[in-house]
Amino acid sequence: MELLNFLLFITTVALCYFVPGSQAATNGTDHLALLSFKDLITDDPSGVLKSWRNTSSVSYCQWHGFTCGARGQRRGRVTALELPTLKLSGIISPNIANLAFLVRLDLSTNQLHGTIPRESSLLLNLNHLDLSFNNLNGKIPPSLSHCSGLRNISLGFNNLQGEIPEEFGTLVDLQSLSLLYNNLSGSIPANSFQTLRKLQHLSLAKNKLSGVIPHSLGNLSNLLWLDIGYNYLTGTIPMSLGNLYSLTLLELKFNNLTGQIPDSLFNLSSIQLLSLQSNNLQGSLPGDMGNKFPQLEYLYLGVNEFHGFIPSSLCNSTNLRDLVLEYNQFSGPIPPCLGQLDGLFRLELGVNQLEARDPTDWNFLTSLTNCSILSHLGLSANNLGGMLPSSITNLSTTLQILYIDYNAIEGDIPEGIMNLVGLTQIAVGGNLLQGTIPVSLGRLNMLQDIELELNKLGGMIPTSLGNLTILTQLRLAENQLTGNIPSSLANCPLNWLDLQGNMLTGPVPKEILQMPSLSVFLDLQNNMLSGPLPAEVGGLINLQQLDISNNRISGEIPKSLGECLLLGYLNLSKNLFEGSIPSSLSNIRGLQIIDLSYNNLSGHIPEFLGNLTGIISLNLSFNDFYGVVPKQGIFQNSSAFSITGNSRLCGGIPELRLPSCPSKVYQKHHSQKMKLIIAPKAAILGCIILVSLLVVRFSRCRSLRNSQTSETLMNDRPRVTYGDLARATEGFSSMNLIGNGSFGSVYKGFTNYNGKATSVAIKVFNLQQHGASQSFLAECQALRYVRHRNLVKILTVCSGFDSAGNDFKALVYEFIPNGNLDEWLIIQVEEMDLLILC
Ligand SMILES: *[C@@H]1O[C@H](CO)[C@@H](O)[C@H](O)[C@H]1NC(C)=O
Ligand SMILES: *[C@@H]1O[C@H](CO)[C@@H](O)[C@H](O)[C@H]1NC(C)=O
Ligand SMILES: *[C@@H]1O[C@H](CO)[C@@H](O)[C@H](O)[C@H]1NC(C)=O
Ligand SMILES: *[C@@H]1O[C@H](CO)[C@@H](O)[C@H](O)[C@H]1NC(C)=O
Ligand SMILES: *[C@@H]1O[C@H](CO)[C@@H](O)[C@H](O)[C@H]1NC(C)=O
Ligand SMILES: *[C@@H]1O[C@H](CO)[C@@H](O)[C@H](O)[C@H]1NC(C)=O
Ligand SMILES: *[C@@H]1O[C@H](CO)[C@@H](O)[C@H](O)[C@H]1NC(C)=O
Ligand SMILES: *[C@@H]1O[C@H](CO)[C@@H](O)[C@H](O)[C@H]1NC(C)=O
Ligand SMILES: *[C@@H]1O[C@H](CO)[C@@H](O)[C@H](O)[C@H]1NC(C)=O
Ligand SMILES: *[C@@H]1O[C@H](CO)[C@@H](O)[C@H](O)[C@H]1NC(C)=O
Ligand SMILES: *[C@@H]1O[C@H](CO)[C@@H](O)[C@H](O)[C@H]1NC(C)=O
Ligand SMILES: *[C@@H]1O[C@H](CO)[C@@H](O)[C@H](O)[C@H]1NC(C)=O
Repeated sequence: MELLNFLLFITTVALCYFVPGSQAATNGTDHLALLSFKDLITDDPSGVLKSWRNTSSVSYCQWHGFTCGARGQRRGRVTALELPTLKLSGIISPNIANLAFLVRLDLSTNQLHGTIPRESSLLLNLNHLDLSFNNLNGKIPPSLSHCSGLRNISLGFNNLQGEIPEEFGTLVDLQSLSLLYNNLSGSIPANSFQTLRKLQHLSLAKNKLSGVIPHSLGNLSNLLWLDIGYNYLTGTIPMSLGNLYSLTLLELKFNNLTGQIPDSLFNLSSIQLLSLQSNNLQGSLPGDMGNKFPQLEYLYLGVNEFHGFIPSSLCNSTNLRDLVLEYNQFSGPIPPCLGQLDGLFRLELGVNQLEARDPTDWNFLTSLTNCSILSHLGLSANNLGGMLPSSITNLSTTLQILYIDYNAIEGDIPEGIMNLVGLTQIAVGGNLLQGTIPVSLGRLNMLQDIELELNKLGGMIPTSLGNLTILTQLRLAENQLTGNIPSSLANCPLNWLDLQGNMLTGPVPKEILQMPSLSVFLDLQNNMLSGPLPAEVGGLINLQQLDISNNRISGEIPKSLGECLLLGYLNLSKNLFEGSIPSSLSNIRGLQIIDLSYNNLSGHIPEFLGNLTGIISLNLSFNDFYGVVPKQGIFQNSSAFSITGNSRLCGGIPELRLPSCPSKVYQKHHSQKMKLIIAPKAAILGCIILVSLLVVRFSRCRSLRNSQTSETLMNDRPRVTYGDLARATEGFSSMNLIGNGSFGSVYKGFTNYNGKATSVAIKVFNLQQHGASQSFLAECQALRYVRHRNLVKILTVCSGFDSAGNDFKALVYEFIPNGNLDEWLIIQVEEMDLLILC
């Protein structure tokens, strides 16, 4: 090996001095270089390199991955080394520099690490360099610019650092430069790039580039693609980009660009994809925009500060497939001509101020029935009022997602909704809808999510919903539903069932309580359910949150409840439960919040409650417990538990000021004097738990067997402070406000999260408005109604104090406005860890 290395060294030195054009370099050089390349490959699962032997009898020109020259000087010399997608690990040998006649080098989609060898700059014949999709790090060697014949450089999807070399400006033949998905910083080289007149594709997306977009990019007159999204670019969009007449794709999304779209940009008549999503751009769109962009297929302007009308001329961009304008301040009616766009696939207009005041304003919906491949229709959180047109039932059968929630829509949900056989998600919550839930909904067997909450729907819950074999979420909260809970719902693989705040009567069906799929949430609170809680409740073995408070449930708390081993939140308050607390509850190790208040429970307060390690809030108030108040565990912290309204207790920690317990005689005692201050604090903690449970739900880690307390979740997470969030939202400026509700406000922001530039939505609870006395738990429940599809994951929770010292509570979501649409960019949003902290 020593000898081989020595030989390589000698030949390398020789090459440096005698190549180019030296006849002295033989194909033996290539041979040795290849063997040295092989040496540094530590793993070759597909075994392709096995065929590379060092016996000179075998011509490497026949080895896998090679092309050799045929004529003249190149005869027998390696001209192409192409080993993509072979899962090769190891580092790239600097000796590949000896492959002096190499024209193409493609090692993409492997697991190579280490740096790009500086020696690559000796490959003077190289045209095509593809090292993308590896784990390469270090800097891009500026000396690569010596390979003056380079046409294509593809180094994307690595972990390269440092700046983009200025020297690349000398690569005048460069056609394609792709550095996306790295860790590059600094600014886009302004001066050098303008010389790259042949450049067609420039992809620098998903790095950490800062500074402004240089004017000089406007000199790259052959540019077809310009993708510089997901960076930290600031300033305005340079007017000069309007000179890039050939441009078909312009991606500037997820930066911090300000100002208006320059007029010149509307000269880009070849543009097919324009994405300015998630910046701070302002202004309105010119009325004739669509006429200027005849080729337009994808228009993404979401999450900016655009205002004004949606130009009708967009209907003249007949190729339009995706029109995404959500999270802006667009106003006025939705153009009724959109139905002319027969290729329209995705129409996302949610969270604007679009209006429908009279029936003609709804003509757009009728016209959309012409769009035969429409798949997503997002109209959430606008000012759409008036009656829901029945033509909604004539939308394309390809429609998968229908969001019209949080408007002021009246009328009934028509039975004809069953025509929309492709629906997977329907959200009509937060409107003024009346009538009953259509029985025919039970025929839409692709449905996964049904959200009808916060309307005025009455009547019974149709049993037909039990036919939906892939339904996982059913949210009917805060309506006026009556009758029994249909036991057929137990046929659906629900993990989330929310029926709270209705007028449901009858017993809690046994069948519902035997659904192992119910893993996240069962909320039946604020109804008129009666009868005992069936012993079958022990079947909820995966459930994390159970709330049946404020009903008329009587009888004892079933012992079998102790089989719900994953419960973290248990609320049985405000019912007619009697008897004692079953000792089986001690099996539920992860219990964090227990509320049994306002029942007729009696007996002793069981000691095991003090042994539950994860518990942070315990409310036993207004029952008839008697005897000794335990002193260990949660009972040491008078602000974490409440026993008020139980007149026959004694002992406990001194702060409780209960009488001491005479042996075997329990005295009556009035505990009115106790000043319990638990509500706010316990509620904050409660909120945290709810949130943690939500996070668990969002993270798809549903099968967490071990009770993972929020504390373990909270440790080792990056902390987010009020200050961080203030910075991310520019002091919660109204410019970053993207939504307002009774619960508080939602801001968009941009923050460096775990080292990644992350666009976030921050929901700040309005604690003042509801008064300190109000339970924060109620606030948290509002969360469930704020489930915009763009908010995919809760990243973190911030609970603390604001700059004025007031309680401050916020949730931070990852914010991905339709990132999945850019198929060409292969953007797959990385799986974020399950994160929570306070
Ligand atoms: C060929 O490779 C083997 C193993 O790598 C080595 O032991 C042997 O000395 C090599 N032969 C020559 C001629 O380089
Ligand atoms: C080296 O080149 C000679 C002719 O130039 C050829 O005959 C021989 O096969 C080549 N060796 C290898 C290993 O390709
Ligand atoms: C170089 O890139 C251009 C544009 O991306 C592409 O059309 C061409 O095929 C590439 N050339 C080579 C040699 O791969
Ligand atoms: C990105 O580069 C910076 C230095 O510029 C380094 O501190 C950081 O760790 C890098 N990030 C990753 C994910 O490698
Ligand atoms: C780039 O274009 C500007 C005008 O837009 C021109 O003044 C400048 O000379 C150009 N630069 C080069 C290097 O051609
Ligand atoms: C975005 O730009 C504004 C205005 O230029 C600036 O105040 C803010 O700090 C920038 N935010 C980020 C995250 O860079
Ligand atoms: C658009 O192009 C036309 C000529 O094609 C030119 O006259 C006009 O100034 C350009 N507009 C802008 C805003 O650059
Ligand atoms: C659409 O294009 C036609 C023909 O070019 C034009 O007459 C019409 O005014 C355009 N519509 C809008 C709304 O701009
Ligand atoms: C649907 O398209 C046809 C022809 O393309 C047109 O005549 C009709 O007016 C359109 N309907 C609506 C509701 O836009
Ligand atoms: C749905 O379309 C059919 C056929 O085009 C039409 O007859 C019917 O009136 C439409 N229904 C509604 C409610 O618009
Ligand atoms: C749907 O449910 C209803 C009532 O539960 C039942 O009568 C009907 O047969 C079911 N239909 C299908 C297609 O399963
Ligand atoms: C609570 O824990 C203590 C010590 O850890 C133990 O002695 C006691 O038996 C436990 N009580 C119950 C009810 O589990």
